[in-house]
Amino acid sequence: MEHKIPQLPYNKNALAPYVSSETLEYHYEKHHRAYVAKLNALIQGTDFEAMNLIDIILSSSGPIFNNAAQHWNHTFFWGCLRPPNGAGPSQKFVELLRGNFGGLEEFKTQFGEAALANFGSGWTWLVQNENGSLEILNTSNADNPLRHEQHPLLTLDVWEHAYYIDYRNSRPNFVNAFWQLANWEFVEANLSRKQPKWARMPGQTEQRSSTRLPH
Ligand code: FE2
Repeated sequence: MEHKIPQLPYNKNALAPYVSSETLEYHYEKHHRAYVAKLNALIQGTDFEAMNLIDIILSSSGPIFNNAAQHWNHTFFWGCLRPPNGAGPSQKFVELLRGNFGGLEEFKTQFGEAALANFGSGWTWLVQNENGSLEILNTSNADNPLRHEQHPLLTLDVWEHAYYIDYRNSRPNFVNAFWQLANWEFVEANLSRKQPKWARMPGQTEQRSSTRLPH
């Protein structure tokens, strides 16, 4: 079963000036594409070849896990971005953030602090726990909330390859720019998925061998 890279849900120049087309040229076309190619090569002739991406993530380790999870993480990350349009979250979601973090600005501050504290390469997530509460979570390298039975709503890629072209070594500037691109509609749609939420790709209605982004 061959895994395929999903189409970006926007043009490569649509996130400028916050994320440049050059960054997407490297991040999507080279980094993400390489994870998918490596995954396909690694699973050839193994039991993983017949599994869908989520099952591989939940049952593998080492290079197969790393490439499978990076494929999923990046697919999810592209969905978390949209061209800058100034739109914020709905009032209902702001209320939810208020209950969990004190408010929208407080959430952004806490999420940003976590992203800056995430040492080395990794991902910063907003996740929903089984009891419905929201939590900010840092993972390292390819690790993701699916492995921890937590349901991801939002993620920020804090690997240096995500921002080095546009912001050099300034992760804080990248984190600030991220809020101009956050796709709150995507985040809120993730919230309403049926349980077990963590076991599906956003927009996925059945088991499939490749992933796609919601539109
Ligand atoms: Fe990345």
